[in-house]
Amino acid sequence: MDEGRWDTYAERYHQEIVSPFFPGVENPLLAELKNVEQSREKTVAEFGCGHFEMGPLLAQSFKEVYASDFSTKMVEIAKTRHGHFPNVSIIKEDMSHLSHKNSFDLVISVNSLIMPSERMVRNALAGFYDALKSGGDLFLIVPSMEGVLYHGLLLFEKEMSQKNESVAKRVSKIKFEKKKYDLFFGYYKDGRDVQKFYYHHEIQFLLRKAGFTNITIEKVLYPWGEDVSGYENFYGEEPMWDWFVKAKK
Ligand SMILES: C[S@@+](CC[C@H](N)C(=O)[O-])C[C@H]1O[C@@H](n2cnc3c(N)ncnc32)[C@H](O)[C@@H]1O
Repeated sequence: MDEGRWDTYAERYHQEIVSPFFPGVENPLLAELKNVEQSREKTVAEFGCGHFEMGPLLAQSFKEVYASDFSTKMVEIAKTRHGHFPNVSIIKEDMSHLSHKNSFDLVISVNSLIMPSERMVRNALAGFYDALKSGGDLFLIVPSMEGVLYHGLLLFEKEMSQKNESVAKRVSKIKFEKKKYDLFFGYYKDGRDVQKFYYHHEIQFLLRKAGFTNITIEKVLYPWGEDVSGYENFYGEEPMWDWFVKAKK
């Protein structure tokens, strides 16, 4: 989605967008931030900060905090909510055209590397790499394509328990909204909005190509329930997930 579309989402963000910061979500990023050694001496950047949910936590934990987003409205809201911290600066910036060099000890981006342009994704990762100091850390959360496919499996299984196999296949594909997905590139298209999802192997590949090392990938777990998962609920089954990614420059 372009910055104009994100402007339109800015005001009603939490009605529209499922967030890894919702209560109940098992989000490893928060524990990782607490584990950053000597954080009070470190600089951190969050690219694609949106409302800047992590603003207070980052401001209290790090020496200097830099946050940016390409949506004018998101930046306005972030500044109104968290711009008062003396060690925080928030600016408008496109993460696919970054020009920071060796500036930050830690770079964070949470569900913002979701543009459906493979070139822009690669540019953003190269920009994150350049923006980090040598030995610096990258913490990313990105939407999981496998998580969505797993949901498709649950939909199919439910249909299989009630119908014959060919009907179950047809109905579950419709419920899954298969026509809206490009499973090759991991895009979900809903009207004008297109969002990128990531495969586990794809994250490894892209980060390695961008120069990162020590890449580890864990799940951000979204408990079932209307407010949190945003998908049909399957209580009792394993929950859906985003990917939490750690890497080093
Ligand atoms: C799903 S929201 C996540 C916001 C925030 N990180 C959070 O988790 O609450 C995605 C954000 O990424 C921003 N974004 C998308 N593409 C961007 C780009 N190319 N450069 C900068 N920000 C971008 C959007 O404006 C939006 O604020």
